[in-house]
Amino acid sequence: MSKFKRHLVTSALPYANGPVHIGHLAGVYIPSDIYVRYLRLKGEEVISICGSDEHGVPITIKARQEGVTPQDIVDKYHGIIKKAFSDFGISFDIYSRTTSAMHKETASDFFRKLHDDGKFIEQTSEQYYDSEVGQFLADRYITGECPHCHNLKAYGDQCENCGTTLSATDLIDPKSTISGSKPIVKETKHWFLPLDKYEPFLREWILEGHKEWKSNVYGQCKSWMDLGLQPRAVSRDLNWGIPVPVEGAEGKVLYVWFDAPIGYISATKELTPEWEKYWKDEETKMVHFIGKDNIVFHCIVFPSMLKAHGDYILPENVPANEFLNLEGDKISTSRNWAVWLHEYLIDFEDKQDVLRYVLCANAPESKDNDFTWKDFQARNNNELVAILGNFVNRVLVLTGKYFDGKVPASGELTDFDKQMLEDVAKCKKPLESNIENYKFREALKDAMNIARIGNKYLADTEPWKVIKSDEERVKTILNVALQITANVSIAIEPFMPFTSAKMLGMMNSEPFGWERLGDTNLLLEGHQLAAPSLLFDKIEDSAIEFQVQKLESAKKENLAREYVSEPEKASISFEDFGKMDIRVSRVVAAEKVAKTKKLLKLTVDTGVDTRTIVSGIAEHYSAEEMVGRQVLVLINLAPRELKGITSQGMILMAEDATGKLVTVTTDSDVKEGSTVK
Ligand code: MF3
Ligand code: ZN
Repeated sequence: MSKFKRHLVTSALPYANGPVHIGHLAGVYIPSDIYVRYLRLKGEEVISICGSDEHGVPITIKARQEGVTPQDIVDKYHGIIKKAFSDFGISFDIYSRTTSAMHKETASDFFRKLHDDGKFIEQTSEQYYDSEVGQFLADRYITGECPHCHNLKAYGDQCENCGTTLSATDLIDPKSTISGSKPIVKETKHWFLPLDKYEPFLREWILEGHKEWKSNVYGQCKSWMDLGLQPRAVSRDLNWGIPVPVEGAEGKVLYVWFDAPIGYISATKELTPEWEKYWKDEETKMVHFIGKDNIVFHCIVFPSMLKAHGDYILPENVPANEFLNLEGDKISTSRNWAVWLHEYLIDFEDKQDVLRYVLCANAPESKDNDFTWKDFQARNNNELVAILGNFVNRVLVLTGKYFDGKVPASGELTDFDKQMLEDVAKCKKPLESNIENYKFREALKDAMNIARIGNKYLADTEPWKVIKSDEERVKTILNVALQITANVSIAIEPFMPFTSAKMLGMMNSEPFGWERLGDTNLLLEGHQLAAPSLLFDKIEDSAIEFQVQKLESAKKENLAREYVSEPEKASISFEDFGKMDIRVSRVVAAEKVAKTKKLLKLTVDTGVDTRTIVSGIAEHYSAEEMVGRQVLVLINLAPRELKGITSQGMILMAEDATGKLVTVTTDSDVKEGSTVK
């Protein structure tokens, strides 16, 4: 930390168009929180900045869909997100929002300075325009046929069916999603930041100057630059955002990726009148915590903006993470394939630290990673309960039992005692260096190691046995074990602040401070401890199955929603249709076909005769439910053998996207044998 006096830590501003989920937490907010908690514990001068990103097209689309204003949407989610972060102990010094007055002023000033200094180029381009509503259309507001896969519902920026990136003008038969009308092409003027001009500076600064950046980040920056940087529009035709603060810009707002990172500056201004020392002093170390989809904006676009402005420092590091998947699938807000933080806390009350622990242990630091509920359970039961919780509980309970909860005096230490205490002290260096190098998974292992050492110490010294013969020795053992316990509480604080606080409560102690990690006399002889309680408890299979079920139903709903009707079949003649003899029939008896899952054997009265039909509906209807029901039967279908039974005809069914079958019948009862034509 040498050449720096203070730290400015930012975490990507989440979009206020939905709640936050475990992917956000694992990728950005837990790492940044570990980092700032550590720095604070060390007594460093540090501020942690975040807020909601409240502009941009997706918010306007969501508002339109729900029939409310964009402001309503962001007000709602800003509240939900802010609460979720605070519930999980994410300790921002400020959680602001980009619709604040301070932000509007800051972002406008920033744009105006760049504008007045001649840093932008102005370009006129052709854009789709909805003349019915009198509005230029963002790419997301246009749908049409994909030129590649001919999906009829492709968006102007991307076809979600085949994944191709599109330009709105590529679409066949484009339509405005606002009015449904055919958009026209119209000229519009925008301001561009000529990134190409900053390429030499960026190459020097990143590729030469920051070879220590994570390889995923460095690599992405390099490949962007190798492709050649292009001027980037920093304004949009939209009525939601910060108005472009120069003349001749009616109906135009700042591009969301222009204003959002300036949100870090605005939030700092809101936090402290001394904001400039954080943003304009080379002795400040600025670090941006983000997910990988934000790399280009934080390593290329925003630094170019800061450079163009001239007064600001640049980030010292941008430790971007990869993505967290959920049970093997990409997390998706729109598909509800996620574990939402606010829902987690309903199902796992007070278990914030369990999730913090699991997400850190599994953080997608160098590659995408998978969250599974089974792993969540295993880590809780085998690591938090069996190692950390078990150690701390045994030490405190034994001290209560043998010495009324008073820290016993230590006699002379054995070599083994000394060795164990040394091993604990040795954890400090790697732990620090891992945190300082953004290797939080490793750092967490270092912290847990202290509890492992404690467990080993108890297993080897067996105070519960020694108490019968040598109480003096037990005093020493528990004194040593208590010192290890106190060390654990320091080391885990950045990762599991709730547990650390609970431990301090049980030890009846004030926080020790990071510098005392490794100290072997944290709890003084005679100090009275408080009553112990369990730090963690076992998570049962049923709790996990419940979560898995929840995901299963989300998956089913998605299938149903995304179902695209089967393509139309080739046309047939009326005679072809007339060949089918479909009759209203009544089921008179039904039974399950033995040793099959799907088949029911039905006896039906077709009005012509009574016959047997085998039907694959047993997963959707029980035999009892079928008896008495009127159904439609194709009676002249050639007979088929199924499981040794001759099936004479077919019961007509409708099948939905999930494969669910329902019988098709007439509007009201008609006589058996009536024909369908
Ligand atoms: N809202 C963006 C996202 O969720 C992140 C914005 S970060 C900032 O991907 F720098 F622009 F603020
Ligand atoms: Zn396509």
